[in-house]
Parts: sequence; structure tokens; C-alpha cells
Amino acid sequence: MSTYENYTIRSATYDDSRWALGVELVLGCLASGSTPLHELVVLDAGCGTGNYAAAVLPKVGRVVAIDASPAMLDVAGRKLAAERDAGGIRFAQASIDDLPLPDAAVDAVMVNQVLHHLHDVPDAGWPAHRRVIAELVRVLRPGGALVINTCSQVQLREGYWYYSLIPRAAQALRRRVAPLDVLEAFLTDHRLGLLGRFVPADGVIQGEAYFDPRGPLHDDWRAAESTWALVDDEELAAAQAEIVALDDRGELAASVAARDARRRDVGQITVLGARRDAS
Ligand SMILES: C[S@@+](CC[C@H](N)C(=O)[O-])C[C@H]1O[C@@H](n2cnc3c(N)ncnc32)[C@H](O)[C@@H]1O
Repeated sequence: MSTYENYTIRSATYDDSRWALGVELVLGCLASGSTPLHELVVLDAGCGTGNYAAAVLPKVGRVVAIDASPAMLDVAGRKLAAERDAGGIRFAQASIDDLPLPDAAVDAVMVNQVLHHLHDVPDAGWPAHRRVIAELVRVLRPGGALVINTCSQVQLREGYWYYSLIPRAAQALRRRVAPLDVLEAFLTDHRLGLLGRFVPADGVIQGEAYFDPRGPLHDDWRAAESTWALVDDEELAAAQAEIVALDDRGELAASVAARDARRRDVGQITVLGARRDAS
């Protein structure tokens, strides 16, 4: 369960502002295992409302979709009812550090934009991340691919125009997101071979809403991006005052464009691929 975002509330509007960014990169990594893509049984760990599951389902054999939030699973179940009835997907409520699956149960694992919700202690070596990766590897068949969709520290600094308005919250988020080299070290500790780091060339995680320069003034807009759950009242008031002042001076659009300039180079998300030893 997320330790800072209320997914019971968020489930109702999640799909208004999120889509499966980078799914082609995720599929590319899933396909690198020893089982053909169309036969794969894929675990979607932290499936949320099922956007990535829905996007990969036409290409893979079956999906096992697991999430801690009953409300998110409810949305996913309604969205993918036909696929569930046809046996293409099954859902389970569980935490991804204690999966209700036997060893080597799936051919591939994907975990999309979930790990930063773990309650963890970076200074103690990220034990919660370490535990979850061990659990994901446990259920992965030898020769199978494990795909982590996350954000790099650079992307968290330069990939989201509004983070410069909320520096304390952005810093708190960066403290929650394990650096890529930490995740890669955990993967190689389990003798997984690294496939690489892949960044979608374009597209933003929130879709068109991301580009609304007045978005932070609106509750619905902020509710659609979990970083805003880390913003305190003082920081929110300052950010909103800055937007209003820029708007009054006719400088808002230019300011947002300048704050967003580096995103085109660094992207917003990174897909890390790894493959378990076949033996
Ligand atoms: C940002 S959403 C991502 C959902 C989906 N993977 C996607 O990319 O659209 C994070 C999801 O992770 C789930 N989650 C957080 N911690 C979890 C845990 N320990 N076990 C299972 N699910 C968890 C939340 O309930 C939420 O649905």
C-alpha cells in the first residue's frame, strides 16, 4: 500500500491523467526472455487500474495482476472484465513483498511506477526495495525478464516542469525513488543480467493535462499526480502565488516552457530491463 497517496480516492480519477507511457519499451524487455512473447505469463506487480496490463494483453499469453489497493483493482477488474472472463487475466489483492504465487510461477514480471510508494530507508540501503526485488525474482522463472518502470534522479530534477515550484516536495520524492544504479545492483545480486535503461523518446506520463500552466491552481489537477500529496500548505501557497504572479505579468507560458525545456532531452520515465539466468 502506498505510504503517501490515497489510492481509494485516487482510483476514481486515475485514468483521467495516466496512461501506459513506454509500453513498447516494456514489451521489448518482456520479449527478451526465453519464452516467446505471445506465450508469456506476465506478472503485473502493482497493476493499479490495469493500464499496462491492458496494453500488453493483446501481445502476451496471460497476465497475473496484483495490487494492494482494492479500489484500484476494482477499476482494473471492470476495465478488463471481458479479458478476465476469457481467462486472459486474473487479479489478486496482495502486497508485492509477499506475493501469493509459488516460486518460478511466471515467465516475466513488470512493475510500473510502483516502487517509490514503498516505505523505505535509503540510508539503511533500501531494505524494502531489496525485499521486493527478491520477491519478484522468486516468482520469476529462470530465463525470464524482469522490467522495472521508474524515474531516474535526473528525470526527477528536469523532467517535470512544476517540480521547480515545489522544491521541498520534489526533494522528498527524490528521496523515495531508488537511484537506477541501486536497483541494478539489487538485480545483479540475484544474478540477473542487465538488458539496459530505456527512455521513451516522447510522451508525458500525465498526457495533455501535464501542459496546463495553471494546473497547480486546481485541486483535481494536483490530485492526478502523487507528488502533490507531498506538498505542504506553505509550499502550495507559494507555488500558486508564483503562478498567479507570472500569469498577471503575461509570463506564465514562457516560464512553463523554460522549466519544461530539459524534459525533451531527459524524458520522464526509465524502463530498466533485466533477465534471470536460464539455469
Ligand atoms: C502510481 S500507481 C501505478 C499503477 C500502475 N502500475 C500504472 O503504472 O498505471 C502505484 C500502484 O502501486 C500500488 N502499490 C503501492 N505499494 C504497493 C505494494 N506494496 N504492493 C502492491 N501494490 C502496491 C498502489 O496501490 C497503486 O495502485
